[in-house]
Amino acid sequence: MSNLATRTPSHQIEPLFVSRWSTKAFTGDEIPEATLFRSFEAARWAPSGSNGQPWRFIYSKRGSETWPQFLALLNERNQVWAANASALVVLLSKKNRLTPEGVRPQRSHSFDAGAAWSNFAHQTHLSGWSTRAIGGFDRPAARASLAIPEDFEIEVFIAVGKPADKSALPEPLQSANQPSDRLPLSSLVSDGRFAFAWAE
Ligand SMILES: Cc1cc2nc3c(=O)[nH]c(=O)nc-3n(C[C@H](O)[C@H](O)[C@H](O)COP(=O)(O)O)c2cc1C
Repeated sequence: MSNLATRTPSHQIEPLFVSRWSTKAFTGDEIPEATLFRSFEAARWAPSGSNGQPWRFIYSKRGSETWPQFLALLNERNQVWAANASALVVLLSKKNRLTPEGVRPQRSHSFDAGAAWSNFAHQTHLSGWSTRAIGGFDRPAARASLAIPEDFEIEVFIAVGKPADKSALPEPLQSANQPSDRLPLSSLVSDGRFAFAWAE
């Protein structure tokens, strides 16, 4: 199902970091509540600025009353494959927080939510399930449809499902459904000065 030949780490790391990848092929199996909440639990332990914990999650399970509403918020090309996911999760981040001095911006709200997403994705993978983040959705419609106050950023939707063989996908999506590679460390890390190409 997964061709991990494209993922060879250049240093010795936990296999989990390269074996997690974002399939679009899902079985549509029902996800046990316990499995989903294990992933929320992992997300809960992410680090955040001043321990502000700005992440919030709204979820819908496939087959539930809210499922068609969640699915309809995705761009059409994402709906094609996400229709077979087992849950859709909306990740929000709270832009402000209450401090002893009053309500103050949580400057790191999106950064913190990204850390929570990473924990969520890796725990889901460790549980034998898969995730794919979705930035392609209708933001104003999502805010209105889910009654999300302006104080909260809608960061991303997350499709969660049991990975399936890529033959489960419509033909045009099959060939691209494989683990992707990464830029080399030499393009990403520099000692003591900015030394990065704009084109990369
Ligand atoms: C913020 C964010 C938004 C994304 N939006 C979409 C999307 O709208 N549709 C999609 O098919 N994949 C989307 N992806 C998945 C990425 O394309 C994928 O994570 C990336 O190619 C790296 O592949 P990997 O997750 O398999 O390692 C998104 C990922 C992130 C983190």
